[in-house]
Amino acid sequence: MIKIDNLVVQFGGIRPINELSAVLKAPVAGLIGPNGAGKTTLLNVLSGFVKPVQGTVSLGEQALLSMSPLQRVRAGLRRSFQTEQVVEDLTVAGNITAIADHVVVAGHRAVAVELALAFVGLTDVADRLGQSLNLFQRRLVELAKCVVGEPKLILLDEPAAGLTEEEGKAFRELVLRIPAEFRAQVLVIDHDVDLIRSMCSETMVLDYGKLLALGPTHSVLADPNVRRAYLGEF
Ligand SMILES: Nc1ncnc2c1ncn2[C@@H]1O[C@H](COP(=O)(O)OP(=O)(O)OP(=O)(O)O)[C@@H](O)[C@H]1O
Ligand SMILES: [Mg+2]
Repeated sequence: MIKIDNLVVQFGGIRPINELSAVLKAPVAGLIGPNGAGKTTLLNVLSGFVKPVQGTVSLGEQALLSMSPLQRVRAGLRRSFQTEQVVEDLTVAGNITAIADHVVVAGHRAVAVELALAFVGLTDVADRLGQSLNLFQRRLVELAKCVVGEPKLILLDEPAAGLTEEEGKAFRELVLRIPAEFRAQVLVIDHDVDLIRSMCSETMVLDYGKLLALGPTHSVLADPNVRRAYLGEF
């Protein structure tokens, strides 16, 4: 469960997050909103890359703001970035090991990496260099990095951007397996409303850093305020 209370982020004169309070409980929750709404900024606050000027965020009962990004990773927080971050001159297994080194005790790392590789279906290309991968494989490496160790909360920033419909569907099916197989909650940002509808039982909508709507995805997407602000309907 993610708890956000009275959160404010200030960059100079703008507040990309402005007095935001929300509780997200769904196993796979969605985060949508127009460009510049503050979605990535919220992920940056949760993962420790941006320090808010006010408010609190917690994962379950654990307050996050006093923890460094690495402490949060060790506490089970994982994220992927809007632009994929695969290291080109490391192998697929090496990319995942780089995370496992921080979160899995020595002696168990190889098994943890194998499990993550098997989950995303990249076992056969484990020894290939990052630079040889196509976009879909890169997105899968990112997902494997998120599930390695014992994740509790996985934050995905537009993880399916640029994928074909078929690849997107395969990706979505993997994400939907995460809560049961890894006992982790997932928060997904995406502009593809169909993807959000098919993955997320609960969705939060941000608009200029404010909470526009939060609730069951079908009712949020039917909300006239959401349709006007985000889906471009009048
Ligand atoms: N490091 C920063 N310094 C100054 N302003 C920033 C910084 N990061 C983000 N912003 C601003 O904060 C606002 C929110 O940006 P953010 O990246 O969180 O939006 P987003 O909802 O993720 O948008 P998109 O859908 O385009 O990815 C924007 O106005 C952006 O220009
Ligand atoms: Mg963004």
